[in-house]
Amino acid sequence: MKNGKILIADDDELNRDNMSQLLKDEYEIKTVRDGRDGIEAFLEDKFDLVITDLRMPNVDGLEFLKFIKEANRDNIVIMITGYGTVNTAVTAMKMGAFDFITRPIKDDLVKLSVSRAMSYAKLLVENNSMKEHLKERQNFDKIIGYSDCMKKIFDVIDKVSTSDSTVLISGDSGTGKELVARAIHFKSDRSSQPMIPVNCGAIPEDLLESELFGHEKGAFTGAIRSRMGRFELAQGGTIFLDEIGDMSPSLQVKVLRVIQEKQFERIGGVKTINADVRIIAATNQNLEKAVEEKRFREDLFYRINVIPVNLPTLHERGSDILILANYFLTHFNVLKRKNVERISPEAANYFMQYKWPGNVRELQNLIEMLVVMKEKGEIGVSDLPPKYRHIQSAIETTPSIKITEEGINFNERVSQLEKDLLLKALKISGGVKNRAAKLLNLNRTTLVEKLKRLNITDGWVD
Ligand SMILES: Nc1ncnc2c1ncn2[C@@H]1O[C@H](COP(=O)(O)OP(=O)(O)OP(=O)(O)O)[C@@H](O)[C@H]1O
Ligand SMILES: [Mg+2]
Repeated sequence: MKNGKILIADDDELNRDNMSQLLKDEYEIKTVRDGRDGIEAFLEDKFDLVITDLRMPNVDGLEFLKFIKEANRDNIVIMITGYGTVNTAVTAMKMGAFDFITRPIKDDLVKLSVSRAMSYAKLLVENNSMKEHLKERQNFDKIIGYSDCMKKIFDVIDKVSTSDSTVLISGDSGTGKELVARAIHFKSDRSSQPMIPVNCGAIPEDLLESELFGHEKGAFTGAIRSRMGRFELAQGGTIFLDEIGDMSPSLQVKVLRVIQEKQFERIGGVKTINADVRIIAATNQNLEKAVEEKRFREDLFYRINVIPVNLPTLHERGSDILILANYFLTHFNVLKRKNVERISPEAANYFMQYKWPGNVRELQNLIEMLVVMKEKGEIGVSDLPPKYRHIQSAIETTPSIKITEEGINFNERVSQLEKDLLLKALKISGGVKNRAAKLLNLNRTTLVEKLKRLNITDGWVD
């Protein structure tokens, strides 16, 4: 077992060989002839350390360093400089090189610098995964939900995160599928490794295959260099296949193979790569229906649907609506340095009645907008965009009242019916109370009293 992987870039063959001889017993070495090949190698594989000569044709050491730092700030680079280029070496250090070694090379110094760099690299990895872990744990805490259906979801998250089973998260757009996927990953043993998301619906079909599996140089027109795919990037971690229902049938076969055999090849590649990857998939389609309609492979469906997690719509978790709204209010007040104190009870009433087709995301966006526009004070009904001020009448949604065997609460039902009639009349009359009263053959005072009793207090014109 070697102590790490080093990429050596030097245009001088002798220098390259010497450096490689010096380090090859302890480390896995790859050598390249210039910065251009270095970039290629860097994109294809992961390295703990890069040792690069300063003067090279095509892409020189400084340009290569710049590329590495832009791609991944934490990657460690040691620069080798010839006599007379010390100034450039200083520039390199400023650009983020870890160390520089001047020629003629002294073997001991090189070994010392490399071993220091390697310890530092290990520290960085640990530190980063800890940071990520902390960050994501906080995010996990931020799945807000106290409704019974969300409590059940939290239970499932706890249970599945300790296993490696494939999870299929379904739910309408904006219900929190990605949030749940992250929570599962960051509670699992794989949390120190990445969770790599792939949006199967957003990437064109012909690109998606190479995104997932990677490709070798020359595998197709335009494949000018080899590239790792997301399955490879997710090694040891989790791959999140978002909108899996949009995946083409031919790719479904290939993903099925990875799940069954835990192996795959890059496009145009001959080497079989083992996939140590946990799969979490998500969909906002009804996949069972897609299977019936032969749009989605039945065998793949059963392979991914090992543990189903179905996220309820926001409307279905009614008791969470105001909790979430207030949570977002606090969040955006802090983020935007605003001081919006609260959502008025009247506005809250509208929140409860609204259907939220865009679910939690829609609520989050609305609160963000309101905080930005309002700055301070309270959010009242008049601050709400018109579509949030429509109240759905229960009459429209429940045309006939059923009396069940357990019986019903008469008074509650009558109040509800009264409320529905009043709201409907107000809606038809554009909110003008006089007109609404006429529509219901009530006098105005009775209507106003009823509105008060039923807590329908704001937003209607006198
Ligand atoms: N229970 C929740 N608590 C706090 N924030 C939430 C919750 N559910 C969703 N969100 C937030 O709502 C937004 C949408 O969530 P997410 O992206 O996970 O939804 P999604 O189901 O993947 O949506 P889509 O199908 O559109 O991709 C995110 O900003 C997320 O942080
Ligand atoms: Mg999503």
